[in-house]
Amino acid sequence: MNSAASVVRNQLIHLTHSDDRMVWRDFLADTVCDEDFDAWFSLISAQISGGLEQALGKRERRKKGVYFTPPDIALKLASKVSDCSQVLDPACGGGELLSAVGRQNESECDAQTMLFGIDSDLSFVISTAARLKAEGRSCFIRWGNGLDLNHWPEEIDGIIANPPYVGEKGNASLFHQLKKDFPDLEKFFGRRMDLLYLFFHRILQRLSSVKSAALLTSEYWLVADGAKKLRDHMDGRVYELIRLGGRNFKEAPGHHSLITVLKNDAPRCWVNENRDIKLEGKTWSPFAEIERGQGTILGELARIRQGIVSGADRVSKKRAETFGLIAGTPIFLSQEKIEGLPFKPTIRREDCVANHIFQETLDSHFILYVDDSESPKEVIEIERYLKPFKPILELRREVRVGKISWRRLHWPRDRSHFGEPKIVVPRHAKKARFCLDLAGHFISSDCTYILAPKDCPQPEVYLEKLMRFLNESADQHLRNFGKTKGEIIEYYSSPLSEIPIKDGILDLF
Ligand SMILES: C[S@@+](CC[C@H](N)C(=O)[O-])C[C@H]1O[C@@H](n2cnc3c(N)ncnc32)[C@H](O)[C@@H]1O
Repeated sequence: MNSAASVVRNQLIHLTHSDDRMVWRDFLADTVCDEDFDAWFSLISAQISGGLEQALGKRERRKKGVYFTPPDIALKLASKVSDCSQVLDPACGGGELLSAVGRQNESECDAQTMLFGIDSDLSFVISTAARLKAEGRSCFIRWGNGLDLNHWPEEIDGIIANPPYVGEKGNASLFHQLKKDFPDLEKFFGRRMDLLYLFFHRILQRLSSVKSAALLTSEYWLVADGAKKLRDHMDGRVYELIRLGGRNFKEAPGHHSLITVLKNDAPRCWVNENRDIKLEGKTWSPFAEIERGQGTILGELARIRQGIVSGADRVSKKRAETFGLIAGTPIFLSQEKIEGLPFKPTIRREDCVANHIFQETLDSHFILYVDDSESPKEVIEIERYLKPFKPILELRREVRVGKISWRRLHWPRDRSHFGEPKIVVPRHAKKARFCLDLAGHFISSDCTYILAPKDCPQPEVYLEKLMRFLNESADQHLRNFGKTKGEIIEYYSSPLSEIPIKDGILDLF
């Protein structure tokens, strides 16, 4: 049981001998508002006595981003708001961060720091209130959405947070609701965003009236495509970045930790306490810059792309029901070649084996390659074949906005890439499975492919060396600094492009 839970549990044992509401009310006086207390009293529960986080199942914790900060990291984060006297944690969980602020400031300041917390889980709210009260702190903890400024105290001078880490994928209804509830944040929404980005945005909006804000997150936002708006919003306000690396959260999926300190005016950024760096460019790689002495990042040594996205490989269950088709019927991706149509042999994730070199073409999958460069005669045949699926194809975004014809692949990539030698790797895998294609395959959307630089004199040799190096070394880097979900590693263009490649490894002569 973590320390938050044990403090509260001791309090509960002490208090719940009487289930007298007044005893509790007196104990929590001024730390929670009346409605919160009323709602909670009916919940006084095994949930708390059984341990806070653990009371939620694994799935629910993941859905709500409930991963409490280990005490040593909480103290490190607290040291970044040590000069603040009114500190808010807008997603306070069991109060680990606020408790650390209280402990630290107790030893460093004469005056007591006022601690404010908000959490969307009522049992955490009351537990934090009880815990901080038991630790002798002045605090006020609210039940609600931490993005709601109505819950934020008017006067604060520091913010501390380990905001919930909940991706947009698979949580569409949550993000839809958030957009409705917080229209002023709508401009920050986008594909592949995360709830934690919205907390960052909220904090950035209040930054001008606080001394510092310290956040603990994964470091993926530095390079994630979905965090571009966040990086833009930060605009010269990142004061410090501290990479904690490793696996600090035993149960949090892919959580490799980074402390970010924001201040209203921070023209340069301290990185790992010893260097200052200007954060600029499309993605940020301050640590790679420091590591640059040890080599060059892959993004500068190769061209990295996701495979072809059709937007409709097969008829999905949902579309089958809507349009009276059979689920699973091939559209763009088939196991058979159909005569007279441009079906191309394709590598899919299951074909990738580490260090394998494809010399012959596979005949297990074929993609109907349509990029609008077809002759009028080919177009007639393609449209005849695709006609039954036309209503599905017309639903794709680029078709709806009039950017592409209904028969085209959504993102066909550059046709010439597929004739070149290339490394191919599944986008998700438990371990590296980089292989080399010398047989001119097309590549499906579940893989990433890597091409040699355009002017490389011997791309086959260059890529073979690179493939062997990546199979040996990529996982260690990606497990520390990329994105993982449990055992699964993401081999996407952005994290791959940050892998440092030792000088000399790819020399051709
Ligand atoms: C990663 S935990 C961190 C908790 C605590 N600050 C710590 O560091 O140990 C995130 C917390 O955010 C809470 N949460 C999730 N969505 C929230 C929201 N919209 N508003 C406020 N809290 C939220 C969860 O209940 C959880 O307690």
